[in-house]
Amino acid sequence: MLADIRTLIIQKNGYLLYFPYRKGDMTMEAIIQDSYNGIDDLKIKEVEEPKLSPFSALVETKYTPVLPYDWRTETGELQMIRPVKLPIVIGYGFGGIVKSVGSLRNNNLVGQKVIGASISGSNSTLVDSKMPPLLFKVPEGVDLAAATSIIGGADAALGIINKLHLDTTDKVLITGASGGIGTYLIQLLRLRHIKVIAMGHTSNLKFLKKVGADEVIDYTENISEQLLYHNDITQVVDTAGNIKLLEAISEINSSKNIVSIATNRFSNFIHPNIFPSDYEKLLRMLLKGELHAYIQDVFSYKDVRMAQSISQKHHSQGRILLSY
Ligand SMILES: NC(=O)c1ccc[n+]([C@@H]2O[C@H](COP(=O)([O-])OP(=O)(O)OC[C@H]3O[C@@H](n4cnc5c(N)ncnc54)[C@H](OP(=O)(O)O)[C@@H]3O)[C@@H](O)[C@H]2O)c1
Repeated sequence: MLADIRTLIIQKNGYLLYFPYRKGDMTMEAIIQDSYNGIDDLKIKEVEEPKLSPFSALVETKYTPVLPYDWRTETGELQMIRPVKLPIVIGYGFGGIVKSVGSLRNNNLVGQKVIGASISGSNSTLVDSKMPPLLFKVPEGVDLAAATSIIGGADAALGIINKLHLDTTDKVLITGASGGIGTYLIQLLRLRHIKVIAMGHTSNLKFLKKVGADEVIDYTENISEQLLYHNDITQVVDTAGNIKLLEAISEINSSKNIVSIATNRFSNFIHPNIFPSDYEKLLRMLLKGELHAYIQDVFSYKDVRMAQSISQKHHSQGRILLSY
């Protein structure tokens, strides 16, 4: 009989080690980045299942969000702010069902719907969530796909609001308003009775109104002309990272009032301020129907390259998810 010559990847001390695969090993599938050649070089590989440690909560993954963080890491673009040692399991957000827990974790978690973040990668059929503050129970009545879109979406949006001191006298212009963060940012600002002007592609203007924007600006048309009608903007939040757009905006609005989470090449670059209690707050808002999760599409994790490519190149309407 031919020997099975597949390789088994074992995660040890933060490194992925390659071993010959033996039949009977407990394995799972993971999406692996092992180069900086971008999306097309991603691989789906069989890797060893995480071993249950006292701190573990082993989660059967159901969804992961497709984030710019992934495809920007895959080209090496984020190396300055996120140095990684390849190969890695991609992603950090996940939603799933807890399968088993270690001796130091709450047994009541088993069987629970959860969302969370994992710094050692999340795009695998099982995730070992070892950091209790980064795992959140999803209330009955909240759809798990919707809840998963909070990670890297609503959390960042709320984190931006936590950072800025806005009140009802403010008028906020959002770039990248149709994206995974933008769609939540519009809603969270409107819930605070703050006026929102959403900037988006022509094809998304109706969508942005539906999400809740008071007014919309088409980034394919003359920005300066459109902004002349909005000289009372008090804050610009950039999630698109398009320098030309930012330059056009700053001609009308003082660049002091521009913050960006997408680029540090133009304006005041900020990291959102997110607290564990924010996740419970956001989940409660989904439960009460105060927030809506805009999910653009769901792809099988086996189609990760297509899903990331669409997320990168097509116009967004919320978040794309992978399902497992
Ligand atoms: N600093 C931090 O800690 C932090 C945290 C989270 C995210 N981020 C960054 O925040 C950014 C947004 O994340 P996201 O998850 O919301 O991304 P997303 O879902 O892909 O949405 C991106 C949005 O930006 C727009 N956009 C992209 N390129 C554009 C361009 N050249 N001109 C005009 N609009 C453009 C898109 O518009 P179309 O739909 O028309 O293409 C879309 O509405 C990413 O760069 C991400 O890396 C930073």
